[in-house]
Amino acid sequence: MADFKIWMNGRLVPGDQAVLPVNSAAVFYATNVFEGLRAYWNAQDGELYGFRLQEHFARLRESMKMMRFTVPYSDVDLYEAVREVLKGNDVQEDVHMHLVAYVLGTGLDATTPTGLYINPRRRPRAPEGGLRACVSSWTRTSDNAIPIRLKSGSNYQNGRLATLQAKADGYDAPILLNRGGTVAEGTGATFFMVRRGTLLTPPLTADILESITRITLLEQVIPDLGLEVVERDIARTELYVADEAFFCGSGYEITPITSIDKFPLGAGAASIQGDVLYSDDFCFTVLCAPVESEESYTVANARIGYAAPDGRWEIAAFVNNLFEEEYRVYAFDSSLFSGVVAGVYGKPRTYGVTASFRFGAGYD
Ligand SMILES: Cc1ncc(COP(=O)(O)O)c(C=O)c1O
Repeated sequence: MADFKIWMNGRLVPGDQAVLPVNSAAVFYATNVFEGLRAYWNAQDGELYGFRLQEHFARLRESMKMMRFTVPYSDVDLYEAVREVLKGNDVQEDVHMHLVAYVLGTGLDATTPTGLYINPRRRPRAPEGGLRACVSSWTRTSDNAIPIRLKSGSNYQNGRLATLQAKADGYDAPILLNRGGTVAEGTGATFFMVRRGTLLTPPLTADILESITRITLLEQVIPDLGLEVVERDIARTELYVADEAFFCGSGYEITPITSIDKFPLGAGAASIQGDVLYSDDFCFTVLCAPVESEESYTVANARIGYAAPDGRWEIAAFVNNLFEEEYRVYAFDSSLFSGVVAGVYGKPRTYGVTASFRFGAGYD
């Protein structure tokens, strides 16, 4: 499979030609700001759909402002550049793109000249199985030192150290605490957990990136599901008694966490069954109930989605406590619901379970 070409300052070039001078601030100090963009291929429409590009462009501008450098491209130019990189590479699959603004000048105080590149990469969907997380002994960099709100490549060394430690210790991913000792986030994802039926996430002042996926969940998906979320500081020990937890981000999408410091989240296995009660092009309502032979339980980390025409499982939304409730589910992007088969993938507690829901057959 050929590598995608990289869009660099207005031209599509092969990867080995997308190079930067070693004495540039971009290379030496990692003086850049960037965004990780997702575009999803919808085979039925024959279209790629970008996820919240406008919000990513706005955040890129905020990072540039904080770094005191400018990029001579308007948001429309950025849209066109993204379109060009996708069209020029004839992309017909899900892709992740790094949109990077960098400084070519030399020295620590260089703010100009600036350049821009977009690097599209194949990146698989978030793993289904969930992650074994640990609390890192590395502290999340603080807003007055190396602010993580500022999305610069140089800031990611903090997450890199934490990731290397987590992997060396046999975990999949770290959870970073901030200087105040409360939960910040993952290395490239924000953090949510459920405790006693309440969905919790750290506030924006907890040394986290202002995640676009987080805000999508808070403002759109969670209210649409009839759920509530509390933004508050989370203590380390609350992690160990969480019922459920997940990371979210453009790259991570919604990734369940199955254990933290080897404490399993929740307990026991469960099964679910359900029927789609109503569907139209853009949303569906499911009625979920425990399978008869099972004890009552709540299902953790359930994902509602549909089987795409090419057989892949497309996740549309994350839901909690699927238990004798009706949920009306909307996609982040209405295009997700042009599929014909709806389903629920449940990742209850530490064990997986799958059930599916079908449109049609007696239902509208
Ligand atoms: C440090 C950090 N936190 C959180 C996120 C999630 O942010 P978003 O949902 O905007 O991708 C990312 C991903 O870019 C990140 O790098």
